[in-house]
Amino acid sequence: MSVRGKVLSVENMNPFVKNMEYAVRGPIVIRAGEIEQELSKGLKKNFTDVIRANIGDCHATGQKPLTFLRQVAAICTYPDVLLKDPNFPSDAKDRAQRILDGCGGKSIGAYSDSSGVRVIREDIARYITERDGQASDPDDIFLSTGASDGIKIIMKLLMTGQPGKERAGVMIPIPQYPLYTATIAEYNAYPIGYYLNEDKNWALDVNELKRSIDEAKPNCKPRAIVIINPGNPTGQVLTKENIQDVIKFAKEQNLFIMADEVYQHNVYAKGSEFFSFKKILTEMGPEYNNMELASFMSTSKGYMGECGFRGGYCEVINLDPAVRAMLLKSISAKLCSSISGQAVMGVVVNPPKPGEPSYDIFQKEKSTVLGQLAEKATMVTETFNSIEGITCNEVQGAMYAFPQIKLPQKLLEAAKAKGQAPDAFYCFNLLEETGICVVPGSGFGQVEGTYHFRTTILPPVEKLREMLGRFKDFHLKFMAKYS
Ligand SMILES: Cc1ncc(COP(=O)(O)O)c(C=O)c1O
Repeated sequence: MSVRGKVLSVENMNPFVKNMEYAVRGPIVIRAGEIEQELSKGLKKNFTDVIRANIGDCHATGQKPLTFLRQVAAICTYPDVLLKDPNFPSDAKDRAQRILDGCGGKSIGAYSDSSGVRVIREDIARYITERDGQASDPDDIFLSTGASDGIKIIMKLLMTGQPGKERAGVMIPIPQYPLYTATIAEYNAYPIGYYLNEDKNWALDVNELKRSIDEAKPNCKPRAIVIINPGNPTGQVLTKENIQDVIKFAKEQNLFIMADEVYQHNVYAKGSEFFSFKKILTEMGPEYNNMELASFMSTSKGYMGECGFRGGYCEVINLDPAVRAMLLKSISAKLCSSISGQAVMGVVVNPPKPGEPSYDIFQKEKSTVLGQLAEKATMVTETFNSIEGITCNEVQGAMYAFPQIKLPQKLLEAAKAKGQAPDAFYCFNLLEETGICVVPGSGFGQVEGTYHFRTTILPPVEKLREMLGRFKDFHLKFMAKYS
């Protein structure tokens, strides 16, 4: 045993780390794991399995990887053998060879430039150019360890380094994806929450943006606005006009725009379309097209769901060249993001083209995943809205529904007596009774006095149908108990 006490204690450790919260992997998820253990030991419950609808982890809920993506990743990893293997198609070999040629020693075991493998950045720039009809420069792009890493890197640049009222203020939606509040807490920044309008399908209202920034100005130095489009946890897809309004607001208030666009392939609703902030800002002409903007993308979402590769990129435009140099310096201290993640990102932006051997199977696999997600988005929205006491906005995009639950007074009192937030009380009971694991709305933020939960739409169609059935039974009984 050590003769001295621990150097680090909870009292003296970094307080900002202690302040961080990340609901998506919070206590309810820990309990879900315990229940799985109990079931595996033969404990009898009303259900035989836990349905994990708490996290946007596609493969963990049964989605199969896309063949072409994995072929390229496999060849990149074991080229000596697989480049010669007749079972692998020529276009997968060509993609892998292109990536390997861009790597030191033609191996993904080498570090890349800090901003990522050059040919992959070129392919990303081409993808963005084709998507937006606006030029993109590979030197404006860096590869990151998932989008999370890119978001944290950019947010770090925006910090003032000052305490108290001189801290950087970062505007974030409420409800929001908890990476943002967690990072703001870790960096000791000031969260400026703006509410999304639930009555207007979670639209972003400029008056609300003004209200939130005006209220925050005495407490911090507002520097950036985060927009998540399509939205997590709210599943809305912003219209072009809404995006234009946000850009005008950011210009007026001199804010750096952080556009989280990781769900750009996940748009399901009729009439909804994804527009990137870069495209709209560029099209708005000289008054706006010089604004600073960072856009984030990931291999984890879309039709790929390759979360474990930790691939992602950030395109950051109109940065002061001296700041860009600092950005590069800051990422170079981490050397580079994982090259296998970079390689998978490279395939996402350079998929098989018509006429190539893998085109048909790639398209079929991609449209199957996206088609099923669209079917599940409708199923979830319709089912929740058919249950008394629940309202749910249309899931237009992303991978989540965020229904509102009307909780009776007696239930609020029971939750209080247990020292739990009412929606957490509801979700814990749901888990214990049905094995369904969802995240309470309080983990994402919500209007005071309203209660929600977030569920993913990721379980396979039949499993999701079963889950909604279990959910409905629970909800009706639970409400009756407290009415
Ligand atoms: C809105 C949003 N941004 C960023 C991320 C981070 O994803 P990753 O780091 O896996 O790319 C997620 C993950 O769920 C997300 O929902």
